[in-house]
Amino acid sequence: MHDPRIIVALDCPSAVPALELAARLEPALCHLKVGKELFTAEGPQLIEQFMQRGFEIFLDLKFHDIPNTTAQACKAAATLGVWMVNVHALGGRKMMEAASAAVAQAAHPPKLIAVTVLTSMAQEDLSELGLAATPAEMVLRLAQLARDSGLDGVVCSAQEAPLLRQHCGKEFCLVTPGIRPADAAADDQSRIMTPRAALENGASYLVIGRPITRAADPLQALQQISQQIGGMA
Ligand code: C5P
Repeated sequence: MHDPRIIVALDCPSAVPALELAARLEPALCHLKVGKELFTAEGPQLIEQFMQRGFEIFLDLKFHDIPNTTAQACKAAATLGVWMVNVHALGGRKMMEAASAAVAQAAHPPKLIAVTVLTSMAQEDLSELGLAATPAEMVLRLAQLARDSGLDGVVCSAQEAPLLRQHCGKEFCLVTPGIRPADAAADDQSRIMTPRAALENGASYLVIGRPITRAADPLQALQQISQQIGGMA
């Protein structure tokens, strides 16, 4: 089956605008990312509705708990039938191994990826937690731990993608937000990259929100980006 490179971030507060937006997109051209706000407000029913419309879902809930609880949450996500789910790598090896084993038992295992260091965290935030490494060192360390724990990939910035690609291998899935077409506003993203450049840097999937969701014509924006990266798999 065709596997589009674009994941549209549906950062909506409730089902009505989210469904309206999905109706203006095309499952052949994108996956959809549902995060904590929308999922907490609307729950699994909305996920079902997206899937009925043919969309594959990245459930971006960033699970982080003791191994058994995280594994059960991942199993529940797999049972829902989502395409991708994620956990915090800071939960550690045992948590990630348990999560990996849990999704592997599903009839259709979702891709299981990890968040390494939140991009909102700077050096001083890590120091305050007692972590001496730089954010870049932590990202690499946690990505390697995620891979060694059986996960399929990580969320990372496109700037980090070449290093992670080099150290984690060509099969490792790199999911990159902070993507902006050349003519789009940066919004609140500080280190941005164009869709083409991100893929050239080694990204596997591009998480794109506002350049598509806030466009006057979301489908046209999606089609344009798809054309820009056409043929890059
Ligand atoms: O609208 P925009 O393209 O900036 O949306 C990016 C999406 O990726 C949002 O859902 C945001 O929460 C998410 N994200 C991010 N940076 C990270 C991790 C996730 O922008 N480091």
